[in-house]
Amino acid sequence: MRIALIGYGKMGKEIEQIALSRGHKIVSIIDINNIDDIDSEEFRSADVAIEFTSPAVAVDNYKRCFKSGVALVSGTTGWNSQWDEIKTIVEKEGKTFFWASNFSLGVNIFFALNRYLARIMNHFPEYNISMTEVHHTQKLDAPSGTAITLAEGILENVEHKDKWVKEVEESANELAIHSIREGAVPGIHIINYESEADTITIKHDAKNRRGLAMGAVLAAEFTCGKKGLLGMKDMLTF
Ligand SMILES: NC(=O)c1ccc[n+]([C@@H]2O[C@H](COP(=O)([O-])OP(=O)(O)OC[C@H]3O[C@@H](n4cnc5c(N)ncnc54)[C@H](OP(=O)(O)O)[C@@H]3O)[C@@H](O)[C@H]2O)c1
Repeated sequence: MRIALIGYGKMGKEIEQIALSRGHKIVSIIDINNIDDIDSEEFRSADVAIEFTSPAVAVDNYKRCFKSGVALVSGTTGWNSQWDEIKTIVEKEGKTFFWASNFSLGVNIFFALNRYLARIMNHFPEYNISMTEVHHTQKLDAPSGTAITLAEGILENVEHKDKWVKEVEESANELAIHSIREGAVPGIHIINYESEADTITIKHDAKNRRGLAMGAVLAAEFTCGKKGLLGMKDMLTF
């Protein structure tokens, strides 16, 4: 497969290694210094582009990539307020867009476990729910996209909670997400259910970025030849 990379930071470099090891060719690398190369012939020759940049520039990159006609996989988080705009472009203009808040297999297993536990805990409102996410200090968005997906999994299943908030709950219907930024932590997500009698905790602790990068390359392979909005639920069958 011919792959273009948009963003050549921590994730872009890790994805390049895995893509090459799986026999793919990197035909274009777009970073902050050569963003106009999205309009180049090399970029347009890609079967799929993989985008990992930053919240402030992601949506602009998506629009430029859609114009180039190249299928797009992205993991950039923190741009959710523009989700509807991107969804409309993809659906109306027949584009291909695979997005995931987290590409790692382990985290997607954790998402399923979180939804299952939330369905059980819906019957036990005496347990107070709290969420904590920890990431490296260079991460720009808080809470993490992964934490938002976990919160949505709880809100869909626990009737007495209907919105997530940053840090402090002001009423019982809110679910607080605490964000900690320290060191070089790739990503820790913790969900706690606490009663007067006990605490139930589930936790995912990423050891490195390899699982994330592998998931993004698998998503690129899956996306090739498909149309529309795609996500991990389309690729994983559990
Ligand atoms: N979904 C997932 O599984 C997942 C996993 C890991 C990370 N993420 C998210 O992915 C994003 C990138 O993470 P990262 O760790 O790779 O960050 P990073 O190391 O900061 O890399 C981002 C790269 O994008 C470049 N860039 C900035 N503006 C650009 C533009 N307009 N066009 C093209 N490239 C541009 C940056 O260049 P400069 O350094 O020169 O500014 C940098 O090289 C973040 O939003 C992060 O939260 C998602």
